[in-house]
Amino acid sequence: MRTLEEHRELAEQALAGLPFAEELSGLEEALRYSLLGGGKRVRPVLCLATGEALGCEAEELLPAACALELVHTFSLVHDDLPALDDDVLRRGQPSAHVRFGEGIAVLAGDALLAEAFRLALGYSDPGVARALADATLGMIGGQYLDVTAEGELGAEALQRLHALKTGRLLAACVESALAVAELPEEPRGPWRSFGRELGLLFQIVDDLLDATGTAEELGKTPGKDEAAGKVTYVSLHGLDRARELAEDTRGRVLERLEALSADTSVLEDLVATIRERRA
Ligand code: IPE
Ligand code: IPE
Ligand code: MG
Ligand code: MG
Ligand code: MG
Repeated sequence: MRTLEEHRELAEQALAGLPFAEELSGLEEALRYSLLGGGKRVRPVLCLATGEALGCEAEELLPAACALELVHTFSLVHDDLPALDDDVLRRGQPSAHVRFGEGIAVLAGDALLAEAFRLALGYSDPGVARALADATLGMIGGQYLDVTAEGELGAEALQRLHALKTGRLLAACVESALAVAELPEEPRGPWRSFGRELGLLFQIVDDLLDATGTAEELGKTPGKDEAAGKVTYVSLHGLDRARELAEDTRGRVLERLEALSADTSVLEDLVATIRERRA
């Protein structure tokens, strides 16, 4: 079984080798800039590690893994636009719209999304494309709530927002691996439950890092949530309680993993890096 780092390396190489549609040649530089300039590759690694735990070959999983990172990158490029979070730094370099202009950033995001679906359509089983569509729609719904909610959310509504804007895509990493592995319906439930909790953990940690990280560590501007009046785990619960909630969520993620009948050691490593990350 591959280590986390080996999965990451595999994903990185596959992303670097992706061909884009010929019609996109003018956008190629913006696409490669957004996609290849750093990024932890959590989503493709989650897909690869889940699939391998279920006995799939990495080669079978890589198109899905890349598609997930393409959707994620699309969400970041658009998230940074002045109309949304207005963020000038992403993955340690100027955001796509700062480097190429807003129009190109909008188009690059659109192209990344469409390329993701092209990859998903390479599978005869529609499960990967379905997982990607559900996650993209959930993410967009979550982003809508994020930009419109300001200051009016309670704990439950915030958890729902996080589950949508971030959790859905992480859950789709697990779901698409289940589809590639052709796992029967019945054992999918516990895997899905793991994916959902992991998604929530990921965004709680993102909220904590926005409040406590530095631009150098994060490769993006810290303190943006507070400055924009965003409701986050930190603004709603305070730093200490948000940390406790992250720990509770980590506990639930690990419980879900233990309940699975597969070798989940690499996924346990991934959970640790997601909780302890500084970027
Ligand atoms: C940041 O995601 C956006 C969120 C959904 C919280 P990541 O922290 O995975 O960003 P990269 O891909 O490593 O840049
Ligand atoms: C972004 O949430 C979730 C997306 C769908 C991109 P954030 O706005 O908190 O992500 P960062 O902190 O800018 O990476
Ligand atoms: Mg945002
Ligand atoms: Mg943002
Ligand atoms: Mg954030």
